Amino acid sequence: MNEIRPESLKRITTIEAANAFIDEQVEELKKQIGDGKVLLALSGGVDSSVVAALLIKAIGKRLVCVHVNHGLLRKGEPEQVIEVFRHQMDANLIYVDAVDRFLDKLAGVSDPERKRKIIGEEFIRIFEEEAKKLEGIRFLGQGTIYPDILESDKGVKAHHNVGGLPESFDFELVEPVKFLYKDEVRVVGKALGLPDNMVYRQPFPGPGLGVRCTGAITRDRLNALREADAILREEFARAGLEGRVWQYFVVIPDYRSTGIRDGKRCFEWPAVIRAVNSVDATSATIEPLSYTLLNTITNRIMSEVPGINRVLYDLSPKPIATIEWE
Ligand code: XMP
Repeated sequence: MNEIRPESLKRITTIEAANAFIDEQVEELKKQIGDGKVLLALSGGVDSSVVAALLIKAIGKRLVCVHVNHGLLRKGEPEQVIEVFRHQMDANLIYVDAVDRFLDKLAGVSDPERKRKIIGEEFIRIFEEEAKKLEGIRFLGQGTIYPDILESDKGVKAHHNVGGLPESFDFELVEPVKFLYKDEVRVVGKALGLPDNMVYRQPFPGPGLGVRCTGAITRDRLNALREADAILREEFARAGLEGRVWQYFVVIPDYRSTGIRDGKRCFEWPAVIRAVNSVDATSATIEPLSYTLLNTITNRIMSEVPGINRVLYDLSPKPIATIEWE
């Protein structure tokens, strides 16, 4: 890709500027697509959601969104995609419950890169299967943003997007936000009426909770992770930290330690809290969480999530530690 942001495109920081961008893009999209149909992999992340909302405005039901639930999404995410896009925006949305397919393929696999590869390949396979079932689709919508273009020019991060589809796909690309920076995509999302927790969502890796349920993923540990992560996010929101801390999540390592539950010895997992600040994810510092907040989160996770008997706080900056544990 060798594309440069046009100089005429002023930085979008206000709703007025976002509305002007939206009007212009809707016209462009209508021109590019004509009476054709567009297929879009909709993860629920801010970039693909903004592309979906723009395309719905431009071509309505001729946009076909495919949301693949790989079982590694956070609590409530697939439900929110269905609620916002199918019910509120009346989009043409295909929901694929592929939880068993992914988790069966991942069973017993402990190597992180192998896990990533399985998740990426299975995602493409499912998307291809869905595309084959549909007829007359010539266009593929993508949530490419400007940093993706800059980074792929430099050869960084090629492996990072699970949603990245192979070039062998015989589609014409539709990429309405490809010259925007992340903060501009958020302003456009806000102007399009997307909910705040979608627009200001923290970065979430394509392989999802899969890289936070370290080693070989099991359903029980994955469920514990999903519940503990939901508690963490709820308490961050209550403490006013949502949108103010770059990334915060729970990791559940594949390791057990001893505890006492109801007077009996128990052998359960630890939950690790990670909360970091960063500008571009190449380095990260630790968010100094208050002891009160840590205490509340610890008590809730230990009493509400079966299988967890210990809560830890990861104090390691990047470098040396990476943000994700795998
Ligand atoms: P690390 O762990 O390398 O993460 O410090 C830097 C940023 O990238 C995200 N990340 C990923 N995103 N696919 C993605 O789409 C991946 O495989 C992946 N691994 C890490 C991570 O969440 C952080 O924001």
